[in-house]
Amino acid sequence: MLELMIIGQMMGQHAQQHPHLVERHRTYNMGKIPKEYKGLKNPLKPTKENLAAGEKIWKEQCVACHGESGKGDGPAGKALNPPAADLAFIMTRPIAQDDFLFWTISEGGAQFGTAMPAYKNILSEKQRWQVILYLRKKFTGTTEPPKRMRHRMMQQGTN
Ligand code: HEC
Repeated sequence: MLELMIIGQMMGQHAQQHPHLVERHRTYNMGKIPKEYKGLKNPLKPTKENLAAGEKIWKEQCVACHGESGKGDGPAGKALNPPAADLAFIMTRPIAQDDFLFWTISEGGAQFGTAMPAYKNILSEKQRWQVILYLRKKFTGTTEPPKRMRHRMMQQGTN
């Protein structure tokens, strides 16, 4: 409970309005994602080809829920409970590491009772990494992951 409150505080109001995100983020921050995903890094270079492929996947597979703007306001995303996440926001946060995104996109939200689909049987690994590259470029302007704030999390006793 204390951990939940601390993570809630770190995520600010955004997560407090969307408690399922706390659950997903908490699982990651506690190191509880499956071994096969832990520490994975995007093996692809941000070439024009990979970014273009990522854009196509985003438009075909993600926009209906997450919206063109990424704010979770796509026609099929708004009505969901919980609603589609605000990717424009989350991509700028320290949690948006390669392994977090690849795990989330591969396994979806079944374990958290959400409508986020599991893409491991829909998109190849390469396609999942391509869409991650594109999301970074689109929402952060760079294809590098954000800086981790491990130090601060350790100080707060959540990691
Ligand atoms: C059927 C609607 C739907 C589609 C299609 C969909 N998502 Fe989601 N997505 C959700 C919902 C709902 C959530 C919030 C619940 C959760 O995190 O499980 C979510 C959460 C996420 C998160 C976690 C965000 C966070 O703050 O933790 C990521 C990353 C994500 N989606 C990426 C994608 C990508 C990339 C695609 C396309 C390949 C996609 N989603 C397609 C509904 C959808």
